[in-house]
Amino acid sequence: MEDRILFIPIILGTTRQGRKSLHAAHLVTSELGKRSGIETELIDIANLPLPTNDAGEAIKYAGFSAKMDRADALVIVSPEYNHGYSGLLKHILDSCLKEYIHKAVEIVGVSAGPFGGVRIVQNLLPVLRELGLVTIFWDVNFSTVQKTFDIDGKLLDDTYPRRISKFLSELIWMAKTLRYGREQIALE
Ligand SMILES: Cc1cc2nc3c(=O)[nH]c(=O)nc-3n(C[C@H](O)[C@H](O)[C@H](O)COP(=O)(O)O)c2cc1C
Repeated sequence: MEDRILFIPIILGTTRQGRKSLHAAHLVTSELGKRSGIETELIDIANLPLPTNDAGEAIKYAGFSAKMDRADALVIVSPEYNHGYSGLLKHILDSCLKEYIHKAVEIVGVSAGPFGGVRIVQNLLPVLRELGLVTIFWDVNFSTVQKTFDIDGKLLDDTYPRRISKFLSELIWMAKTLRYGREQIALE
C-alpha cells in the first residue's frame, strides 16, 4: 500500500497578468515531480471557470472537484496582496468541501516585500482548517520574488530547492499517513 502513487496537485492562487508566483509554482511542481511515487500537476485558477454571480458549492466545477477528490494532498502557491490572499483563490477553494476532508495541505507564500507572504500563510491557515484540510508545519516563503527569479523564470537563489525539499518530505509523510487513516481508521 505504501508504494501506491500519491496525487498532489499544486494550485496557483492568482490570475494577475505577469504574476511572478507562476515561477514559484513551476519550481515547486518541478521539485515535487522529481520525487518517486508522486503524480502532480499545476492547477492554474486562471484556467478555471469562476462565475462571480454565486458562491460556494453552487459554483462547483466538475473538473476541479474531481481533482480535489482524487488528491491525497495539496500545495497552494499564493502571492500576498495587501497582506491577504486573492479573493479568487478563496472563491475556488469554497467551491468544494467534502473533497478536502482529512487531506494534507501546505502553503507557498510569495511576495515582493521581505516577508515571503507570511501574512497570507497566517490568514489562510484557519480557512484551510475549516475546509477539513490538515496543515503541516513547514511553509515555503519566496521573499523579494522579483529578485529570486529572472524575467524568464530562471531561479537566481540556489537555497530554494533545499528549503522546498524539507517542505515536500513533510507533506508526503503527512499525505501517506492521512491516506492510511482515511482508508483504515473509522471515525467513532
Ligand atoms: C493588489 C496588490 C497588492 C499587493 N500587496 C502586497 C503586500 O501587501 N505585500 C507585499 O510584499 N507585496 C504586495 N504586492 C506585490 C506582490 O507581492 C508581487 O506582485 C509579487 O510579485 C507576488 O505577486 P504576483 O504573483 O502577482 O506577481 C501586491 C501586489 C498587488 C497586485
